[in-house]
Amino acid sequence: MNRYAILANPGHNRIYFAAALKIAVAELKALAGAYAMELHEIEEGSIGLPASICFSTKRELKREDFKVLGFSSLYYALFEIVEGGLLRPIAVPDFHTFPESMVQILKYNGKTNEQFTRLMVNLALSACGTGSDRMTLFDPMCGKGTTLFEGLIRGFDVKGIEINKQWVQEIETYIVRFLKEGKYKHKAQNSKQSDPKGKKIAHVFSLTAAAEKADFKAGNVQTFELFNADTRKADILMKKKSCDIIICDLPYGVQHGSKSDKANMSRSPLGLLKEAIPAWHDALKAKGSIVLSYNEFTMKYAGVAAALGENGFKVLDESPYNQYLHRVDQSIHRNLIAAVKA
Ligand SMILES: C[S@@+](CC[C@H](N)C(=O)[O-])C[C@H]1O[C@@H](n2cnc3c(N)ncnc32)[C@H](O)[C@@H]1O
Repeated sequence: MNRYAILANPGHNRIYFAAALKIAVAELKALAGAYAMELHEIEEGSIGLPASICFSTKRELKREDFKVLGFSSLYYALFEIVEGGLLRPIAVPDFHTFPESMVQILKYNGKTNEQFTRLMVNLALSACGTGSDRMTLFDPMCGKGTTLFEGLIRGFDVKGIEINKQWVQEIETYIVRFLKEGKYKHKAQNSKQSDPKGKKIAHVFSLTAAAEKADFKAGNVQTFELFNADTRKADILMKKKSCDIIICDLPYGVQHGSKSDKANMSRSPLGLLKEAIPAWHDALKAKGSIVLSYNEFTMKYAGVAAALGENGFKVLDESPYNQYLHRVDQSIHRNLIAAVKA
């Protein structure tokens, strides 16, 4: 038996409060299942680190396993626990294409926490069975782009839809400036998209970029596609079966304090979801996965599960894909739901 400890990212406790351990353990189990690592005796560490999770493995973990643990949302540092309870630091391979700062710089009211976003992406990856060499991530209500940036730094192609024009413009300005300042090769263009009757339904921002100059030159680029549109038009905007994973932090039904949240407030979140899910389903490849987070004060797990189930998804309602409910603040008790395209 080998025993390891993950030192928890300090931001982790801040977002999950009392549910931190349970949530981190469930995510690790999902990753372990998807990447053929058998983890045993997963428990909160009492080994002199501020906050940690310890686990055992029957086999010694390898470089590829360390890489997976390195992108778990809990990860801050990894140690092997060796004789006498000493901690041997492990050099975890970097998983980034673009740097972590891309997802961290923007701060605003209503931003989905970066670690929670990473957790949702990890659950979706674990559940996804498309087998694509490169993942295409779609956030159908992407706000100011936390999920899209998380996808980019992990080497995915990303697509987002957001109804708030100002937020879309801010994403465009931010990403172009970030790439310019980091001297990353990229090419951006704007266009518009119309429905079959010729009515304009979206402003489209498309970008290709590569973290390495040679990759850009060779055409090995990551793509970023952003639509300023209503997500219920996703079936017209997006190519059918073009995405591997859908991640979305749904409107919470609470005001985050800016005018821009009008769209957030304009209709019942579950009503909007029911209208949008068929279009999202079309965009997903067979065996693709969807992970949604939502406020339990505005909709309930059973309602979201029914909406997914009625539209061709199989809800993953067992461990490690359930039991993520946690308190964010007085008005938000956040939960998430995972499903796969049957
Ligand atoms: C909880 S926020 C997402 C926050 C995002 N993950 C971030 O970190 O910036 C939900 C978003 O859904 C958007 N939204 C609401 N209704 C929409 C619709 N019909 N079509 C597209 N986006 C919509 C809101 O404008 C809001 O930005």
